[in-house]
Amino acid sequence: ERRAMSAPSEESRSPQHHLPSALLIGVRKGGTRALLDALALHPAIKAARREVHYFDDETNYAKGEEWYLERMPLSRSGEFTIEKTPAYFTNPTVPERVYRLNPSMKIILIVREPVTRAISDFTQVYYNRLELNKSLPVFEDLVFTRDGKIDETYKPLRNSLYSTHLKRWLRYFPLNQILILDGDQFVKDPLSQLRLAEDFLQLRHEIRSDQLIFNPAKGFHCFRKTYSSKVKCLGRSKGRMHRQIDERTQHQLGKLLRPHNKAFYRMINRVFDW
Ligand code: A3P
Repeated sequence: ERRAMSAPSEESRSPQHHLPSALLIGVRKGGTRALLDALALHPAIKAARREVHYFDDETNYAKGEEWYLERMPLSRSGEFTIEKTPAYFTNPTVPERVYRLNPSMKIILIVREPVTRAISDFTQVYYNRLELNKSLPVFEDLVFTRDGKIDETYKPLRNSLYSTHLKRWLRYFPLNQILILDGDQFVKDPLSQLRLAEDFLQLRHEIRSDQLIFNPAKGFHCFRKTYSSKVKCLGRSKGRMHRQIDERTQHQLGKLLRPHNKAFYRMINRVFDW
């Protein structure tokens, strides 16, 4: 009888699906895949490998919580489940749905200098269309309106309007429940941002610098779980050469985005150098 009592519980022996306690909501092209892979180096973090698109996709959302749960990785009690879908940040229906599932959900957002982010986003759209033999977009025609303003409806640009999107999240979640990471810093010094994430998730500092290996050819870090395991770099669509955009266009876009950036800084009580 005593032995039975001290035996490990069913829960700790057999891993199960658990709903996420944290969501990496974006921003698209901010470094979300690299951040998720790097977080998964932590022994207590279990990450859903694929983007689940539960909260933003009507068909998926209609399938309900059980469907979402089944898409989560197996984990044991005490472990931390995390999911990333960058569409969550920019889709207006998502914050309320996340709140309804779990008002204590920890939210992680990784941002990046917004002009470069827009060009990265545009580059992705461009190559997707190239592969499908579709007509190719011209950046200048799409980001500016006829009267020289920014076209806030053009998705690859709209995704860079951080204040517009964050504002909706702040209706449901207090700022201290949202961790904002610096994607440009994450490229240069990933551990700095990973430590912030570990603190935010109240996990011990267990991701080690020897798990992050800089690859000079790629210009980015690659990851390995243990000393003897294979080093994994992200695919070719991550950190690829951007479409070349005229300097003046970039400058003009930077100027037009300034008020949006400033609104974002005010919202988060913090400034970036853009
Ligand atoms: P670029 O392709 O514009 O360089 P996401 O995964 O959210 O789509 O973000 C892609 C971006 O992640 C890449 O954008 C790249 O700059 C950034 N990134 C950060 N760390 C990386 C890493 N270790 N390997 C590859 N890309 C990384």
